[in-house]
Amino acid sequence: NILPVIMAGGSGTRLWPLSRKKYPKQFLALTGNKNEHNTMLQQTIKRLDGLNTLPISLICNDDHRFIAAEQCRQIGQTQASIILEPVGRNTAPAIALAAFNAMAKFNPQAQQDDALLLVLAADHDMKDSAEFCKVVKHACPLALDNKLVTFGIVPKTPETGYGYIQQGEEVRVGASTGRKVAKFVEKPDLETAQTYLDSGVFFWNSGMFLFKASTYLSELEKHQPDIYNACKLAISKPTQDLDFVRIDSDAFKACPDDSIDYAVMEPLCNAEGASNAVVVPLDAGWSDVGGFAALWDVKQKDDNRNAFEGEVLATDTHNCLVMSEDKLVATVGVDNLVIINTKDSVLVAHKDKAQEVKAIVEQLKAQN
Ligand code: GDD
Ligand code: MG
Repeated sequence: NILPVIMAGGSGTRLWPLSRKKYPKQFLALTGNKNEHNTMLQQTIKRLDGLNTLPISLICNDDHRFIAAEQCRQIGQTQASIILEPVGRNTAPAIALAAFNAMAKFNPQAQQDDALLLVLAADHDMKDSAEFCKVVKHACPLALDNKLVTFGIVPKTPETGYGYIQQGEEVRVGASTGRKVAKFVEKPDLETAQTYLDSGVFFWNSGMFLFKASTYLSELEKHQPDIYNACKLAISKPTQDLDFVRIDSDAFKACPDDSIDYAVMEPLCNAEGASNAVVVPLDAGWSDVGGFAALWDVKQKDDNRNAFEGEVLATDTHNCLVMSEDKLVATVGVDNLVIINTKDSVLVAHKDKAQEVKAIVEQLKAQN
């Protein structure tokens, strides 16, 4: 009984002006055919077709409830539970809400195990869904044995926006194997990331997890009692209307803001003694589409290594990402540019510097 828990509360500011506060990245079709219900969220859900799962739990901000519900409906997810957060408190609390909600539905008298939460980000791209499903199945016995399973990606660059996982000794449950997490470091500085990359024994954390609801909650209670208690209170008397699950707003607002990576994985894995975190390697063409360079990377390209969308006329143009919602965009003699034209804004950036649009969003926020 795998319960997919899809975290869809992020803001995706590094993809401005495509990704907006009212309509963030996970609800956009950035890769794949736009006419076939292929938003990042919908692709995340469709990727699970090869697994036999319970109806999904989706956790997102209250502001996006109708977008989320509509996108689920479009792909036939009529039984989804959509847990609504009155404010964003990052992923540790979001997952806690889903875990408490799963525990409330499970009947301990029936002597069955509680649900295995397959925690997924709503905004990742994956080339090979079949391989992904295979790796998840392989990892289930580990999670049923009370391990917290992370999915590790072989790192290619000293990226500082990721968590790093050091592989320890082999762990085996039945025919399933993984490696103990010897160390977990969230978002190291560049120098540290480079030493991890060079060592050859680190994975990137993909940001996806598999564990029993009870395993996560007991680790959360141990390492972050304030988050545990605030979430427990916030979802103690949920109200259900249609597919929406509403929680106690004041209780959740009082919850500390932190990610699962900092709040649980780091203290759990780096404490003295044996931790129950296990990493299973994943090689399925994963990308978190963290910025325009990554988006260019996953998109189909022409002979000049350009990825175009909308009306674009290009001469002597190479390695560019050009996307236009309305007007014609013409380029002459340019390389490595990102040009994004939306109804109300135009972004022109060097592809290697495109991460810095985050700063523009900060400036815009400060002005408003
Ligand atoms: N419901 C909800 N509420 N979802 C959230 C919230 C929240 O407050 N904050 C973030 N999310 C969702 C995002 O939409 C995304 O799908 C996922 O949780 C991860 O959040 P990010 O903000 O994108 O995390 P990150 O990219 O900085 O880091 C994580 O992912 C990396 C891989 O992409 C970490 O797990 C890293 O260790 C990891 O390497
Ligand atoms: Mg991310």
